[in-house]
Amino acid sequence: MPAMDQNLRVPGPTPLPLEVREAQSAPMINHRGTEFGELLREISAGIAGLIGTREEVLLLTGSGTGAMEAAVVNTLSPGDRVLSVTMGAFGDRFAKIATAFGAAVERVEVPWGQAADPAALAVHLAANPAYRVVLVTHNETSTGVTNPLHELAGVVRAATGEPLLVVDGISGLGAMPFEMDAWGIDLVISASQKAFMASPGIAIAALSRRARDAAEAARMPRAYWDLREARAWAAKGQTPWTPAVSVLFGLRVGVRRLVSEGRERTWARHAAIALAVQAGLERLGLRIVAAPEVRSHTVTAAWLPDGLDWPSFNAAMRAKGVIVAGGQGAFAGRVLRLGHMGAVGIDELRDAVRLMGETLAELGRATDATAALGAMDEVYRAGLAPVG
Ligand SMILES: Cc1ncc(COP(=O)(O)O)c(C=O)c1O
Repeated sequence: MPAMDQNLRVPGPTPLPLEVREAQSAPMINHRGTEFGELLREISAGIAGLIGTREEVLLLTGSGTGAMEAAVVNTLSPGDRVLSVTMGAFGDRFAKIATAFGAAVERVEVPWGQAADPAALAVHLAANPAYRVVLVTHNETSTGVTNPLHELAGVVRAATGEPLLVVDGISGLGAMPFEMDAWGIDLVISASQKAFMASPGIAIAALSRRARDAAEAARMPRAYWDLREARAWAAKGQTPWTPAVSVLFGLRVGVRRLVSEGRERTWARHAAIALAVQAGLERLGLRIVAAPEVRSHTVTAAWLPDGLDWPSFNAAMRAKGVIVAGGQGAFAGRVLRLGHMGAVGIDELRDAVRLMGETLAELGRATDATAALGAMDEVYRAGLAPVG
C-alpha cells in the first residue's frame, strides 16, 4: 500500500480529490437504469462545454490507448493514407496503431523535445493532397511539449483533400485551452485519469459531423471500439457494454469541479503552476527539454544532469515520498518528468521542487532549494495576476 500522503507527480494517473474517492466508492447502480443515463449525460455535457464543442462527447470504458484505437478504426479503411505528425512516444503510438490496422501511414517526424511547425505541415500537405486523416498529439506527455494546435488545425482545414484532423488530447484536455468546434477538430480523445481527476478506466471521445460520417463509412475491423454502437447507446443514456460505473461516479465529480472553477481559470491555474515549476527546476540547475514557447502546462520534462542515473535519483525521490516519472522510448534514463495537472496546487509542486533540490544535493549536485522556491513564488504570482 503506498503511503496516503505521497506526492504523486507522474503525469497521470493524477491525484484523486477526496470527494472523487468518496464518489468512486458509492454503491453500484443499474447501468441500464435512468440514474445511469443522468450520470452519462451530465458528464458528457460538462466535458463538451470544457472543450468547446456542441457535439456529443462519448464515454467509453478503457484506457486512453483504447480511445486512440477507436479514433483510428472509426475513421479509416485499410489502405487509406494517413499523415502522422509525431514528436514523441505517444505520437509514435498513434502511428503504430494506424499501421497495425492497415492504414498507409506516412510521418512528419518532429525531433523529440520540439513542437510541430505549422508552415512545414502546410508545405507537406500541399505536396501530398491525398491523406484521409492527419493524426496530431496536442500535448506530448513524453517530452513535455505542447503543439500549436490551433495553428496546425488551421493548416489541416485549409488543405486540399480535406483530411480529417484526429487529435490525441489525452494529457491536455481540460487543463489547457482547447476549442474543438472553433478550431475545426474532427475527433479528439482523452481519458479520466489526467486533468479530469478520476481513476483510470474511462476514455473520452468527441466527434464532429465529418467524423461521424467517416465512422459510418470506415471499413477497418472494429467491435468493442465501434463508435457507431457507442453513439446509438448514448442516445438511450447507456453504453453498449458494461461500463466502469465507479470511475464514472468519480469523473462526474471531477467534471463538476472543472465546470465550477471555470475553464479559463483552470487553464490559468495550470499555466501559472507550470511556469512556476519550470522556473524552480531551472533555478535548481536543471535544463528543461522544451523551449519556453512550447512548454506544456501539464507535464514538465527536464534532462537528468550528466552522470546522474535515473534509478538512484528516482529511489531517493521515492524515499522522500515524491513519485516522479522517468523517460520513455528514446528519452528513457535521460529525463525526469513531473506532472502538474488536475487536482493540483502550487503547494504540492513547491514541496516536490524543494525535495528534488534536497535529493540533488544529496547526490552531490550544488543546488539552492530556497532560491528555487523563491523563483517559483515570483513566477506563480505573476502568472496568476491576470485573472486575480
Ligand atoms: C498524450 C497521451 N496519449 C496517450 C496516452 C495513453 O493513455 P493510456 O495510458 O490511458 O492508455 C497517454 C498516457 O499517458 C498520453 O499522455
